[in-house]
Amino acid sequence: MSGLITLTPPQFKLFQAFIHQHTGIWTQDTKVALLSNRIRRRLRERGLDSFDVYYSLLSEAKLPGELGHFIDCITTNETHFFRTSDHLDWFAGSFLEGAIARAAAGHRQQSLRVWSAACSSGEEAYSLAICLAERGSQLAGWSLRVVGSDISEAALARARAAIYGPKAVERVAPDRLAKYFVADPAAETWKVKPAVAGLCEFHRHNLLDPMREPAFDCIFLRNVLIYFNDASKPVALKNLVNSLHSGGFLVVGTTDGAHDFLGSLERCSTFLYRKP
Ligand SMILES: C[S@@+](CC[C@H](N)C(=O)[O-])C[C@H]1O[C@@H](n2cnc3c(N)ncnc32)[C@H](O)[C@@H]1O
Repeated sequence: MSGLITLTPPQFKLFQAFIHQHTGIWTQDTKVALLSNRIRRRLRERGLDSFDVYYSLLSEAKLPGELGHFIDCITTNETHFFRTSDHLDWFAGSFLEGAIARAAAGHRQQSLRVWSAACSSGEEAYSLAICLAERGSQLAGWSLRVVGSDISEAALARARAAIYGPKAVERVAPDRLAKYFVADPAAETWKVKPAVAGLCEFHRHNLLDPMREPAFDCIFLRNVLIYFNDASKPVALKNLVNSLHSGGFLVVGTTDGAHDFLGSLERCSTFLYRKP
């Protein structure tokens, strides 16, 4: 594979702009080696040996389905169950208690729609669904939905399969692991049980586009805007805020740098915003 060691500066700029246009992700100039490695892997899979040829075919849409595979290979899908427990504790505690109390007082419907935006392989969506399942009879008769979305089809396929290795479930308490997962000791995997999986659905969705679904009561948007820049963050956040019910909550990752673009929301804590 001659000429395929590392992207040259002009090649890097082309891919950097292409990725930003299609995903909102801004690849830092310092990430040349990382991006080169990721694209080189994709070239090998396609049997190509030139970054320039690949870029032309990709940008001119001459390889059917390639944009999706390219996005799969350049996204960072790192995640695990009950990531940043404070956020999940708030959801399982104050948020659900508030919703249950308001419904009991007749101030809201017995229904909850929660969105795990940029859910990667589904661990965040299933963690939220476990919190719902744990409320048991308090939510009996409610219409409950957790929608997980991501731009990567490969990540979504893993989410739909709902089978995880030891690292993903490391932070799941043993009682939860026993109650909501089926273990396969030989394979060292854990499969989410239907009672939880049945609360979730997964769709491909690009955060740069408006969500074409009914509004949500709570949106988790964590550890994705960290990859965006000041041009793409406000586009994604505007779409998300438009998909939030009045009085609904947005949970952001503490290092995502979303605060400057959330002026229309009331700030409740370092990670929590409420739509007036
Ligand atoms: C690091 S994971 C975060 C997963 C989960 N939210 C968490 O906090 O653990 C980031 C995810 O964002 C997704 N992503 C990146 N750009 C996106 C976009 N424009 N629209 C939707 N998802 C995107 C990636 O595919 C990846 O799965």
